[in-house]
Amino acid sequence: MSNKAAWLKAEKERPLVVEDAPMPVPGPHEVIIRNHAVAINPVNWALQAMAIFPVQYPFIGGNDAAGEIVEIGSEVKDYKVGDRVLAACWANGTPEGQANSAFQLYFSAKDEFIAKLPDNTSYAGGSVFPLAMATAASALFQKDKHGLELPKINPESQGKVVLVWGGGTSVGACAIQMLVGAGYDVATTANGRNLEAMKELGAKYVFDYTKETVVEDIVSALKGQDSVGAFCSVMGPDIIRCGQIVDKIGGKKFVSTVLPTNMPTTEGLPEGVETCNVWGDTLFQCEVGAVVWGWITPALETGALKPAPPPLIVGEGLGQAQVAVDRWKEGVSYQKVVFTL
Ligand SMILES: NC(=O)c1ccc[n+]([C@@H]2O[C@H](COP(=O)([O-])OP(=O)(O)OC[C@H]3O[C@@H](n4cnc5c(N)ncnc54)[C@H](OP(=O)(O)O)[C@@H]3O)[C@@H](O)[C@H]2O)c1
Repeated sequence: MSNKAAWLKAEKERPLVVEDAPMPVPGPHEVIIRNHAVAINPVNWALQAMAIFPVQYPFIGGNDAAGEIVEIGSEVKDYKVGDRVLAACWANGTPEGQANSAFQLYFSAKDEFIAKLPDNTSYAGGSVFPLAMATAASALFQKDKHGLELPKINPESQGKVVLVWGGGTSVGACAIQMLVGAGYDVATTANGRNLEAMKELGAKYVFDYTKETVVEDIVSALKGQDSVGAFCSVMGPDIIRCGQIVDKIGGKKFVSTVLPTNMPTTEGLPEGVETCNVWGDTLFQCEVGAVVWGWITPALETGALKPAPPPLIVGEGLGQAQVAVDRWKEGVSYQKVVFTL
């Protein structure tokens, strides 16, 4: 076996260059995966175009992958060679971390970062989840963040409502499905053309965010209900709009956000409304990671979790990594850009 990667050879350089890469070796709790599908996240573009955080070059990026296990470490218990899995890759920019990056044919992943794909889920379908789900779950369920109830199979109704602003984003689509899986009634905003898809994800109330009256519409629909706050899956002034909504409808005055931890929360929130920022890669630093990753496989099996947004496959081969990043930058509307391998 030999490995190849789509390398970012130097800061802000493009295109990514396909060249040989070291063949990863599994640590005791790691598996080696033959990659079959890679999904694109905003950070993949931002790192290449804007060098938003320091990494050592040449660098292998990519956070979302799905493939087949070809080797297992000595302490791995629940997986075997041949298992089809999705994997979270943290691509943390250190030479050791390069092995756990998605833009390559073979990569390593800790056994806690992977989840089996049932027969009803393709590699492309499985690849849409890792970073989006890790981000949404970290914000929604960590005790020092939003602190909501965790998803389970066959949940009982909580009798409470939560707003997910931006259900058409990858992070928002994961948030909706996990919150429905935790028994919450979910209200969400999306582009008018995607509202039906939001209902299919389980949202009870859907609103077109492009309408001028969206804030008033949400307030009049949710006022008086037992609200546990809002999760805003887009950055910018919508965080303020979420703050205004939770302030007006009553209940928990809390807005969890996707703002990275080192970024200030937007000013202008109504008094008394609290927020939290998040790093998706903190998911496995507490019990939330194991519970959420443990929920993925049975939830996919029962249909409680669907690959969403649906994969938009741009092509096959590592040469498609740059094409896929560029395609994301052109704009997506409830689509997850994926290339296959
Ligand atoms: N802090 C972290 O660790 C972390 C990790 C991952 C992601 N993030 C951040 O989370 C955000 C979402 O990422 P993603 O990958 O889920 O994005 P994405 O899927 O690429 O988002 C695209 C979607 O956003 C929708 N959208 C754009 N503006 C909107 C608005 N004002 N209200 C509602 N929907 C809107 C678009 O809707 P249309 O259909 O109208 O085009 C489109 O469907 C990004 O800002 C990303 O940087 C943070």
